[in-house]
Amino acid sequence: MVVTFYLYKMDNKRPIGVFDSGYGGLTVFKSIAALMPQYDYIYMGDNGRAPYGNRSFDTVHQYTLQCVEWFFELGCPLVILACNTASAKALRTIQQQNLPRLDVEKRVLGVIRPTAEVIGSYTKTRSVGVLGTKGTITSGSYEIEISKFFPDIKVHPLACPMWVPLVEYGEYMSAGADYFVEKYLDELLTGAPDIDTILLACTHYPLLMDKIRKYLPEHIQVVAQGGIVADSLADYLQRHTRMEEGITRNGSMQFYTTDDTSDFDHHATTFFGANVHSGFVHLK
Ligand code: DGL
Repeated sequence: MVVTFYLYKMDNKRPIGVFDSGYGGLTVFKSIAALMPQYDYIYMGDNGRAPYGNRSFDTVHQYTLQCVEWFFELGCPLVILACNTASAKALRTIQQQNLPRLDVEKRVLGVIRPTAEVIGSYTKTRSVGVLGTKGTITSGSYEIEISKFFPDIKVHPLACPMWVPLVEYGEYMSAGADYFVEKYLDELLTGAPDIDTILLACTHYPLLMDKIRKYLPEHIQVVAQGGIVADSLADYLQRHTRMEEGITRNGSMQFYTTDDTSDFDHHATTFFGANVHSGFVHLK
């Protein structure tokens, strides 16, 4: 990590940081990098401490803040929390309490608000299923944010606590994954048969997309956040020219994990769709 730190300082890079508890953020990073390949990026997955989904507010805040500080040390002026759980449980405290102390010039953005802003354009029945981790769902963040933009939409939230472990432990292709995908979708649709749109409010869930589609009627559309967050970031950078000018543009991507790098490289290469060679991060 020390070597990397000096490398970055010598390179004088100021990349965009993209953070998740593990692999899920790669589904967002893929869309961001495809839309804006010109910038430098660092992706970091805190796989060593994933899943975050069942952890307390304090723990998610403490872990997320530690990772945000790590990105700042490497020179990132902007960090995207490509994780709904961290966005729901840590973002506001980081923005309001930590950032003023850490660095008033830097920014940390999440994924919930940009998703809430556009979800109304997907649904005709105004009945939307929101699937997320226990942390995201119990925070009530999606009901609150969606009601600000679309008070007519009825949100049906459901926690799917087994889905992230299936991805993190490499079981996303297994029969066990089929069982848990069908189980939660049945539960959601039995409770709200008029749903026409299901939002995957966890960045890990698109990695189960084939199985999710398999257990849903065709008329229900499934919304993943990658494209939404990428569009929203492009819009943000267009409106914040000083920030945009501060990000370096060599089209580079660096990947880091807090767990075994060969495991990370193996799965991340599949999820990201390009060869990934990660570095290990030891967070003290
Ligand atoms: N990708 C994270 C999210 O969007 C999953 C969190 C986890 O349980 O680690 O919520």
